[in-house]
Amino acid sequence: MRAYHLPAKGAEPLLTDLPRPTPGPGEIRVRIAACGLNFADLLMIKGAYQDTPEPPFTLGMEVAGTVDALGPGTDGPAPGTRIAVFGGQGGLADYGCFPAARAVPLPDAMSFADAAAFQVAYGTSHVALDHKARLQPGETLLVLGAAGGVGLTAVEIGKQMGARVIACARGADKLAVAQEAGADHLIDAATQDIRDVCRALGGVDVVYDPVGGDQFTAALRACNPEARILTIGFASGDVPQIPANHLLVKNITVMGLYWGGYLKFRPEVVTQSMATLFDWYAAGRLRPHVSHLLPLEQAAEALDLLRLRKSTGKVVVTLT
Ligand SMILES: NC(=O)c1ccc[n+]([C@@H]2O[C@H](COP(=O)([O-])OP(=O)(O)OC[C@H]3O[C@@H](n4cnc5c(N)ncnc54)[C@H](OP(=O)(O)O)[C@@H]3O)[C@@H](O)[C@H]2O)c1
Repeated sequence: MRAYHLPAKGAEPLLTDLPRPTPGPGEIRVRIAACGLNFADLLMIKGAYQDTPEPPFTLGMEVAGTVDALGPGTDGPAPGTRIAVFGGQGGLADYGCFPAARAVPLPDAMSFADAAAFQVAYGTSHVALDHKARLQPGETLLVLGAAGGVGLTAVEIGKQMGARVIACARGADKLAVAQEAGADHLIDAATQDIRDVCRALGGVDVVYDPVGGDQFTAALRACNPEARILTIGFASGDVPQIPANHLLVKNITVMGLYWGGYLKFRPEVVTQSMATLFDWYAAGRLRPHVSHLLPLEQAAEALDLLRLRKSTGKVVVTLT
């Protein structure tokens, strides 16, 4: 089978031919139809992601496809079931083996592309805004990187939860995508001062930050008393250093949020969140935005779209 594989630490990934894997106990084998790309794939190639497997391994963290075989002692989902599953690796291949317990059966109307784009992005934003920050109706939510994979879902979910949403992204095209997802106010990160615009709008109660660096600092300065800042990621490459005295004076809380961590230490948080998100999807309340769909042969180009900040929402690689 074809697989987009990282052969060794520091090596370039390459499309290669590997034997079809055999599912182990508690696993399903999936005939993969689509794999959603994540910023973490770029970090894994550099060995800079917190959960990078030991190479060699196949890239691709989340997939959608059809169950093809069950491992020993695995009682479902039955072969033929359309599912989405987060494996953390192994998704950019024709077949992959993943934990059966994490497989989510898909509604008939959900395309494989939507399903492959769904779990990490919506799951992260929903657990962050609901379980962690307890975002309340009428609060003001500032979303940084608001046209990116996770950022765009934070805009949509923030609106679903009744917040007023300020979306920050770079350039008119990306801001138009955030507005389409429901943002009430827009900030162009390339030309506008995040702190000044937010202050003029009355300050912010919750910050969703997948970017870090200078944008984190500006957002901190735009916070109202008792604001919550969700640290989601560092797409800028700059991990913020936080002056704790600023937190004290304004009664601000900074919260780290790692969705993959919940899968390990409290999987029920993810399961409950996913059930809500699939209900919202079925009710037409969420509309996954996939800016690019590319075949596996173009996996390198697909990753470049993320690396060069050319995508909006998600990039999905198709395998059939
Ligand atoms: N904590 C978690 O559980 C979790 C889950 C998923 C992702 N993440 C993290 O969240 C971050 C974003 O992930 P994503 O999948 O949404 O990525 P993405 O689709 O590439 O979006 C990242 C956004 O960050 C902005 N950005 C600002 N400075 C950047 C820079 N120097 N390089 C690249 N992008 C920059 C870009 O927006 P503009 O061009 O508009 O500035 C881009 O749209 C990553 O750090 C990722 O690891 C964390």
